[in-house]
Amino acid sequence: MPAELSPIDKAKFLAAKRATEFVEDGMKLGLGTGSTAAWMVRCLAERIREEGLRVVGVPTSSRTAQLAAHLGIPLTTLDEAKWLDMTIDGADEFDGNLNLIKGGGAALLQEKIVATASDQMIVIADAAKDVTQLGAFPLPIEVIPFGWQTTKALVEETLVSLDVLNRDVTLRMNGGSPLVTDESNYILDLHLKRIGNPRQLALVLNQIPGVVENGLFIDICDIVVIGHGDGRVTVR
Ligand code: 5RP
Repeated sequence: MPAELSPIDKAKFLAAKRATEFVEDGMKLGLGTGSTAAWMVRCLAERIREEGLRVVGVPTSSRTAQLAAHLGIPLTTLDEAKWLDMTIDGADEFDGNLNLIKGGGAALLQEKIVATASDQMIVIADAAKDVTQLGAFPLPIEVIPFGWQTTKALVEETLVSLDVLNRDVTLRMNGGSPLVTDESNYILDLHLKRIGNPRQLALVLNQIPGVVENGLFIDICDIVVIGHGDGRVTVR
């Protein structure tokens, strides 16, 4: 383990390292995005270097592609690979049903496409991401820049129709401008505090014109590997 890690980084590293043990020779892998996924990419690169593990990765963001290429992980595209054996990715929250909020790193669209195209999705997370009810973390949705303010108004109307009490919706910024995703879209963050029915919300949000995808991952994750600050790793 790298020296001098904060308890949270240690937890992320331990979860990432344990998850890479699930990787077998010859696998086609989805490579997630975020600080925990970056540890996984480093641990995978180490296995490739030291054990001669042969894998090929499909990155879920330009950031992950850059890191993985820098570390010598063979990469391909999803169109080339067609179907993946496993995706390992982080999450912003996971609940008891292994439903997730993702998109804190603005990569939810590629992350959801890649995870859905995988036989298995393994989430790696520190214990702080473990929640009884999703929603304390603002739910990201990716929207087309064209008419985004209309899309935002439609999202707010939809939240009213679902009797959602807390429904502040904000455009994610990067410095003074809207943050632009790898797919050239914007991100709206939905500050809901709690999500009573994640499955219903995920379906309804994707019906709104202008919404490309939402950060609720329902029935996609198979296993969560949880790192704890005291050095323990648990698998759920
Ligand atoms: C990126 C994501 C990340 O996986 C999520 O935000 C968790 O990030 P981190 O591991 O840095 O806490 O969904 O879009």
